[in-house]
Amino acid sequence: MRFLVTGAAGFIGSSITDALLADGHQVVGIDCFTSYYDVAQKHANVAAARSHDGHELLELDLAVDEIPSSALEVDGVFHQAAQAGVRASWGSEFETYTACNVLATQRLLESVVRHAERAGTAPSPVVYASSSSIYGNAESRPTVEDALPAPISPYGVTKLAAEHLCDTYRHAFGVPATSLRYFTVYGPRQRPDMAFHKFAKAALAGDQISIYGDGTQSRDFTFISDIVAGNRAAMDALQSGSRGGTYNLGGGSTVTVREVLDLLVEIVGSPLNASFGDPQKGDVRHTSADTSAARAAIGFAPKVQLADGLAREVEWVRGFYGA
Ligand SMILES: NC(=O)c1ccc[n+]([C@@H]2O[C@H](COP(=O)([O-])OP(=O)(O)OC[C@H]3O[C@@H](n4cnc5c(N)ncnc54)[C@H](O)[C@@H]3O)[C@@H](O)[C@H]2O)c1
Repeated sequence: MRFLVTGAAGFIGSSITDALLADGHQVVGIDCFTSYYDVAQKHANVAAARSHDGHELLELDLAVDEIPSSALEVDGVFHQAAQAGVRASWGSEFETYTACNVLATQRLLESVVRHAERAGTAPSPVVYASSSSIYGNAESRPTVEDALPAPISPYGVTKLAAEHLCDTYRHAFGVPATSLRYFTVYGPRQRPDMAFHKFAKAALAGDQISIYGDGTQSRDFTFISDIVAGNRAAMDALQSGSRGGTYNLGGGSTVTVREVLDLLVEIVGSPLNASFGDPQKGDVRHTSADTSAARAAIGFAPKVQLADGLAREVEWVRGFYGA
């Protein structure tokens, strides 16, 4: 089969791409290599895929450029492109978030619909990368999908808006669409602004690790291969006739940042130099996913335990920085 992956040079998009190529599928990727973090990492993410016959990478901005129709002739779309990160989404940067997260999603969905009309086919199914940040400080944990969305960051607002766009295009134009609410994703290729990447890099270099808050905040951490598997299972369901839905993808291991640091000491084998500072505006206190709906609808069953996954990320960081 042939798939479109947006955000194909990013952490998650490149991982989905590699998994699809490994299974013999063709992938057309779209990415505009935003400067949110060092593009050298994004180029490294796509290096292996680039040498693959079944792969094509288009450098274009979904918020601005037209998607060529050849890129829309696909069996499904994995929509991962976004301006990620909670903390940078305040102030004038919000314009980038609305463009990359909301406008880009609307233009993608519109392109899928118009392409199907021209081709006289059904619209391609779309799996959209949503976020646990749409819940804000959820009233109950583990959090179920019908909990009231109450994002506490501008980023979360844009991710929720794009979920609604997927629902809108499903209702109006029959686009099969599923939104997957990822809970903190980690593993090889993790973005450099994310905690595990920063912690591992600092730990290996013997540098100070700066923690936002007192370290008692907790997250439901989800290993990258489980996120890839969840995406593919969601796509399979859409291709088998499901109209789609909204599901949490969480790894099932909710731990505090302090517990993560303890694990890191064991993995790296030396003490850490950690300092604790102010919590950041927009960061939620705790996240925990109820994944029973994802399990029932798409067979989601996360496999990788935190200790194993964190060790794999540390190894990747070591190799990436030659540490
Ligand atoms: N990493 C996580 O823990 C996490 C958690 C929840 C949700 N998500 C969502 O998962 C998706 C992937 O996240 P990631 O961590 O891989 O981030 P990432 O920044 O590594 O990847 C996103 C990619 O999208 C590209 N992009 C952004 N705007 C674009 C545009 N207008 N046109 C074309 N390309 C564009 C960027 O250049 C980047 O390579 C995002 O939608 C993010 O909101 C991630």
